[in-house]
Amino acid sequence: MPHKNTPAINEDSFVIKGLEGRHILEGDISVSGAKNDILKIMAASLLFEDTVQIENVPNVLDVTALTDILEKIGVKVERTEKHLLLLSPKHAHTTLPKDGAKKLRASVILTGPLLSRYGSVSFPHPGGCVIGARPIDIFIQSFECMGAVCTRDDTNYTLSAPSGLQGADIFFPIASVGATETILMAATLAKGTTILRNAAMEPEIQHLAYYLIKSGADIQGVGTPTIIIKGGDLLHANENIYTVMPDRIEAGSFAILAALAGKKVRITNCNPSHIRSLLALFEKSGVVYKKDATSLTIYKRQKPYKSVSIRTHEYPGFSTDLQAPMTIFLTQAEGEGLVFETLYEGRLRYTDDIVRMGADITMFDPHRVLIRGPKKLIGRELEAPDLRAGLAYIIAGTIASGTSTIRAARHIDRGYSNIEKRLRKIGVPITRI
Ligand code: EPU
Repeated sequence: MPHKNTPAINEDSFVIKGLEGRHILEGDISVSGAKNDILKIMAASLLFEDTVQIENVPNVLDVTALTDILEKIGVKVERTEKHLLLLSPKHAHTTLPKDGAKKLRASVILTGPLLSRYGSVSFPHPGGCVIGARPIDIFIQSFECMGAVCTRDDTNYTLSAPSGLQGADIFFPIASVGATETILMAATLAKGTTILRNAAMEPEIQHLAYYLIKSGADIQGVGTPTIIIKGGDLLHANENIYTVMPDRIEAGSFAILAALAGKKVRITNCNPSHIRSLLALFEKSGVVYKKDATSLTIYKRQKPYKSVSIRTHEYPGFSTDLQAPMTIFLTQAEGEGLVFETLYEGRLRYTDDIVRMGADITMFDPHRVLIRGPKKLIGRELEAPDLRAGLAYIIAGTIASGTSTIRAARHIDRGYSNIEKRLRKIGVPITRI
């Protein structure tokens, strides 16, 4: 079910006429619903007996891709003007379509509800942004702790638990977002109590968990590293609408863009408390901002920014998804800043392109780069390597001199809704071709 406004795939490049370091962006820019929130409630709809209604749905390709998978396994998905309606079927197919599942990492989240509800699931290794190895060993080990048996052939993993999953005491070796969400969902329909230790604490997980609780799940410890779930029956939405939370990564990226090229930009429909780690760095660097509960305003600063060092970390630490935009910020700050990407071994590769634009960046190893600034950037022909680096290229192209062309816009469209229209509204000279 493609979205009405899904960008045509042949319009797959952005062209930006760089502002040459001028601070002229002005006005309000609104934040969309978070991709990493909606994908999880879409998967969780398989835990429900009735319809889950979702609002503030972002118009992004990953939602289209997950919708396709859900429809292929038998879930009825309806889109209305305001809501995306997900109808859980009585009997979904439990084999995920190979092509669809390989398109996005979040397809693996479906394994939790499917295995728990129907006693089996088959799926290929999930795809998604190419930012590192992204194994699924924690998922498999957790399901095994809950009594599932895993077999693997050339194409698929198959998990089976014909008499249902059993509650278990599970320690995650890494506070994985996806594993926390998936096992949390599985545990809501398992027999007995599940304890998740070293669970991830991202706001999207909390948002999902509170909705599941409202729908009948027994979950304690939400937002802490120890989550306790007492398994029970299918959940009931009872017409409670799930409002997708604002995308904190989009809000943070807009804030970085505004700090680099803004006169006065107000980022609306956001929750600044979700990007405290970014705001703490802004304070150290000298970014002038004002916030209230739902907006963040960035003002032009006369003096150059001071460089800072960053280390990506699970929430509430500095998000890996903001690392690339922040690296662009550091190319314009005075001094040296070390960027330590702790999560993904492939998530600094894009810095080669930023060096081609004129940045002074030294890579020590796949996890660490040193940035010396400020350096003027020059527009280039680029290809978005993934979603978050793609938006960082838009930021780099905006502050550079000359024209930048960013190909493979489809990577950016995976997670950012009508991005060029919203950016144009505050003065970014960007067009899609
Ligand atoms: N990991 C394992 N084994 C596993 C699971 C994870 O080794 O079984 C590793 C990963 O390889 C990674 C680390 O654990 O090094 C953390 O990964 P996590 O599982 O937390 O990430 P994820 O659930 O796959 C989500 C977001 C990512 C975001 C990360 C970290 C979604 C759909 N994706 O991924 O978002 O970077 O959490 O915050 O929620 C993006 O939106 O561009 C994106 C990549």
